[in-house]
Amino acid sequence: MKIAIIGASGYTGGDLIRLLLTHSAAEVVTATSRKLDGKRVDSVHPHLKGLTDLTFRNPSVDRMDADVAFLAVPHTAAMGYVRGLLERGMKVVDLSADYRLPKEVFEKTYGVPHTDYFPAPYGLPELHRDEVKGVPFVSNPGCFPTGATLAAAPLAKMAKAVIFDSKTGVSGAGNSPSATTHYPAVADNIGPYKWTRHRHLAEMKQELARLGSGAGVYFTPHLVPVNRGILTTAHILLREPLEQKEVEALYRKYYEGEFFVRLQAPVLAAVRGTNFCDIAVESEGERVVAVSAIDNLVKGASGQAIQNMNLMCGFPEQDGLRGAGVLP
Ligand SMILES: NC(=O)c1ccc[n+]([C@@H]2O[C@H](COP(=O)([O-])OP(=O)(O)OC[C@H]3O[C@@H](n4cnc5c(N)ncnc54)[C@H](OP(=O)(O)O)[C@@H]3O)[C@@H](O)[C@H]2O)c1
Repeated sequence: MKIAIIGASGYTGGDLIRLLLTHSAAEVVTATSRKLDGKRVDSVHPHLKGLTDLTFRNPSVDRMDADVAFLAVPHTAAMGYVRGLLERGMKVVDLSADYRLPKEVFEKTYGVPHTDYFPAPYGLPELHRDEVKGVPFVSNPGCFPTGATLAAAPLAKMAKAVIFDSKTGVSGAGNSPSATTHYPAVADNIGPYKWTRHRHLAEMKQELARLGSGAGVYFTPHLVPVNRGILTTAHILLREPLEQKEVEALYRKYYEGEFFVRLQAPVLAAVRGTNFCDIAVESEGERVVAVSAIDNLVKGASGQAIQNMNLMCGFPEQDGLRGAGVLP
């Protein structure tokens, strides 16, 4: 199966190429970058040297010949490609935010008009697997909403409020340098940003509401000096108290058979480079603390995108995604 990656010079594009090297049926045939047209892929992804001979090309949909296309481009850029790719018969997974929310919510949240909207399944397979199977187009969830939603989902219906407190690694901001991601600003440091108005809050609210939750949803992210990973502490305030044993049983039942959700103490390094989401819960009665750990570039982006591709194309869901973490 031929794969095109649009935005292959970025962090999620690089991880798509890395992960697809171990997929049993997929071969990346097109890797795009406008700035690096004609340059070898391993010139910006040196960890892929010797594993791929790909050269970057300009993204030209008319000349693209692939079965599946991944859009690993910034929000607002993806909406310019989706329709053309679908019309050329490709299946498409969009890693950007362009199709995760209804049009009016997207426009309000991102402050830009949507120029080519149509609804797409929200590709969080543990919650919406049946909506993703066999379809031509899937919108891949945001990194924070993935870890947050999976942490709170089993208690969503019983909650009156959910407060997500997340710590994220710097690769979440993409590979363009900026003042806030500059080494002296990040190293040996930690701080909150967008305390009450991060755009991913809209996705978290949407997903908890879809689970039948009437809870208030709140979210504050923090930047921490690691490259990869998101640790989310969900404070779940319940309408009725639950004992520790009851909460543990609930999570075990909810995630029974889910390969990519592991119920164990979450440690960033244990999920680094992997598609796993590790979750642990502790109850003090009316408040349950659920903590999740994911790799923002894998379960939070490229790995989940491949998980969606596998469901869309009828491959085993774990194909290309069985690698272990890197600990210590
Ligand atoms: N980083 C994360 O942890 C993460 C997690 C979940 C979702 N996402 C989402 O995934 C997408 C990619 O993120 P990233 O972190 O990989 O970004 P990135 O490192 O900044 O890479 C962006 C890529 O898109 C290309 N690009 C930019 N504008 C383009 C356009 N108009 N048309 C075609 N290509 C364009 C860039 O190459 P050229 O400019 O050379 O073409 C580059 O290859 C974003 O929408 C992001 O929000 C990221």
